[in-house]
Amino acid sequence: MAQRQSGKLLLRRAASLAQQLLQQQQHVTGCTAAAATQCRTFSSKPLWASPCPHGPPAFAFDIDGVLVRGKHVLPWALEAMKKLTTPGGQWRYPVVFMTNGGGVTEGRKAEQLSNWLGVPVAPEQVILAHTPMRDLVPELAQRPVLVSGRGDVLQVARSYGFQRVLHTRELAAALPTAAPFAKYPLQAAGTERGSSTPAVASAAPDASDTAGTAPFASPARAGAAPAPATHGSAAHPCPVRDLGLATEAAPIDTILVMTDPDDWYRDSQLLYDVLTGAGVPTRSPASAAAAGAPPVKLIFSNPDLLWANEFPRSRFGQGAFAHMLLSIYSRLTAGARPHHVTYYGKPNPQPYRLAERLLLSQAQQLGLHLPQVAPGELPFSGIYAVGDNPAADVRGANQAGGPWVSVLVRTGVFQGPGPNCDVDTARVAVDDVAAAVDAALHHTRNLRWHSMR
Ligand code: G3P
Ligand code: MG
Repeated sequence: MAQRQSGKLLLRRAASLAQQLLQQQQHVTGCTAAAATQCRTFSSKPLWASPCPHGPPAFAFDIDGVLVRGKHVLPWALEAMKKLTTPGGQWRYPVVFMTNGGGVTEGRKAEQLSNWLGVPVAPEQVILAHTPMRDLVPELAQRPVLVSGRGDVLQVARSYGFQRVLHTRELAAALPTAAPFAKYPLQAAGTERGSSTPAVASAAPDASDTAGTAPFASPARAGAAPAPATHGSAAHPCPVRDLGLATEAAPIDTILVMTDPDDWYRDSQLLYDVLTGAGVPTRSPASAAAAGAPPVKLIFSNPDLLWANEFPRSRFGQGAFAHMLLSIYSRLTAGARPHHVTYYGKPNPQPYRLAERLLLSQAQQLGLHLPQVAPGELPFSGIYAVGDNPAADVRGANQAGGPWVSVLVRTGVFQGPGPNCDVDTARVAVDDVAAAVDAALHHTRNLRWHSMR
């Protein structure tokens, strides 16, 4: 009798444990029980209707927190790329890499990705945070432009076609008392103007590669001796003294923050001076107003407050720098805000529209069967945007509409609580990029099967 009772007790305990686990599962995945299994084992019912169920799938991969974490290529990234390429290394479906990072040319990033992932990535498959800034060249090619950001951004801006451009490092070198505590006052001005093409990609990612390029690594990191005092020489004209940029002769028209600045103190000071001096950092706001000088446009390449590198917790991104600069600006101007502040990068529409154009031309080059669609529609059953940052990757894909499908992975910024973000909720939330590709391909098959029923 006692034995039967203890047996019953054990059974009851096991049942409540299973119940707890299920509830936990529900909590962990934040989905209903059925859906929970779906995240892991894919249910048969398509999760959402596709505007073009017969079309091929396409993919847009985020980089930081999805494919790499700082120096480390994530193992699931190699797995995911294998699922999307033939044994001969050809792409099966249209794929772009859409990051809020940058600091190198698209060609350089394609080289890096090919090295890291062991698949052939073409420059036309790469969308960096500053890539859409190319569209500003027709208007700004001959206008004085100030760029900020780590890495090769000056060379990148010049490779896009901006002719009268200088970097904040050069401005600091020309005006050494403007940012007296800047880390590298006279660094690099000469060398920047000299070298036209960025250096060749290193084999494995290193922090500077993901966020910038070694050629302009800080002296502290690279141990480089200060640049020779060629600043202002015939070979290396000083953009301020010799070319008059950022002076009343050629006030700055637009500031482009192309990547996260490598010196927040220097760049926040100089950008504040250029904004309040209407393009001339040495000019007071009062004399700028008296001169009726037009306001300077300020464009950030992305709004990321946080991003994920090797460090166990997410790091400040360009959005944090923007927040800091605009709060100082507001504080010092009785609550004012610069006239023209624009953000590019995910979740904003520019990279998504560009991705649609690149994916469509890839689909044609791959010779994939593309169903007839109405003008303005896209012949894809889904464009799976795989990302780690809900506020950038998920919000962007959710807002992009059409066949865009947000897929959230848990290998970067997003670390719960719960399996999915309850603010920017992804269509699918999975552990990593390999599971994301599985989910997308499974769903594509399901869509096709159901559309034939
Ligand atoms: O600085 C890059 C970072 O903000 C995010 O990069 O690749 O996750 O969009 P990614
Ligand atoms: Mg990311």
